[in-house]
Amino acid sequence: MDWGMENRMGRMFSPASGNTVMLAVDHGYFMGPTRSLEDARATIAPLLPHADALALTRGILRRCVPPTASTPIVLRVSGGVTVLKEDLSDEHITTSMREALRLNASAVAMSVFVGAPHEHESLVHLGELVDAGEDAGMPVMAITAVGKELEKRDARYLALACRVSAELGAHLVKTYYCDDFAKVVEGCPVPLVVAGGPKLDSDRAALELARRAIDEGAHGIDMGRNIWQSDHPVAMLKALRAIVHEQASVDDALSIVGEEGGATAPSAARPRSATPRARAPSR
Ligand code: 5RP
Repeated sequence: MDWGMENRMGRMFSPASGNTVMLAVDHGYFMGPTRSLEDARATIAPLLPHADALALTRGILRRCVPPTASTPIVLRVSGGVTVLKEDLSDEHITTSMREALRLNASAVAMSVFVGAPHEHESLVHLGELVDAGEDAGMPVMAITAVGKELEKRDARYLALACRVSAELGAHLVKTYYCDDFAKVVEGCPVPLVVAGGPKLDSDRAALELARRAIDEGAHGIDMGRNIWQSDHPVAMLKALRAIVHEQASVDDALSIVGEEGGATAPSAARPRSATPRARAPSR
């Protein structure tokens, strides 16, 4: 890997754990003012110091994030469709590599729509973005979007979408957690991070998702709604950090939400283990 590319990757992933906690706030690019992200500046500000990277569009970056911020930026560069359309797959590249460099991004990200009406275009766009990324020393993150069909999130489909993304040159892939997630990891030779998806019933459910994903080989998370739609966003982000970087158990992480968020988490009274669980070296 070229020095610039490696340096950018290194900014996002912790050298100690090999993992990353990305905060996703790019939802407005096709969903508009999503709940709890209406005022993006107010949502992002308290979370920013606790994220290893911030995933967003150039518009929200320029308007809602101070240029003094040192958090690595994962710049979404695809778009062109909104939730008002039935088919979300007709995305194009909406932000140039030159712009990503100007904004000092650490990576660019685009959605790929495997199996959707515009599968072909999205995969060709990925190949073109990787070419531009290799020229610029800019990592490309492919996002295996499933459109409105969340039921597509099974290991067979996601393994295919992740592998195709890696074959076309993506340097990292964002996907969803699913049963048999280890099979998705096994077939994908680049680091995988998992999205959270729509808000789950509880903070515990989101922490469990992250715990399982890391245990089964994910190199981190790129999570949004289950953080900033939580009643305790900062505490939730800290709890996720404990899972991703310190191998905390779900109960230990949930106690962080209880302590920091002031919530009565079910396990808040439970003592935290003194030492994190041992972890195999990450690949
Ligand atoms: C939107 C995205 C989101 O960044 C991704 O889905 C992560 O956010 P969440 O955890 O809320 O699903 O790519 O297209």
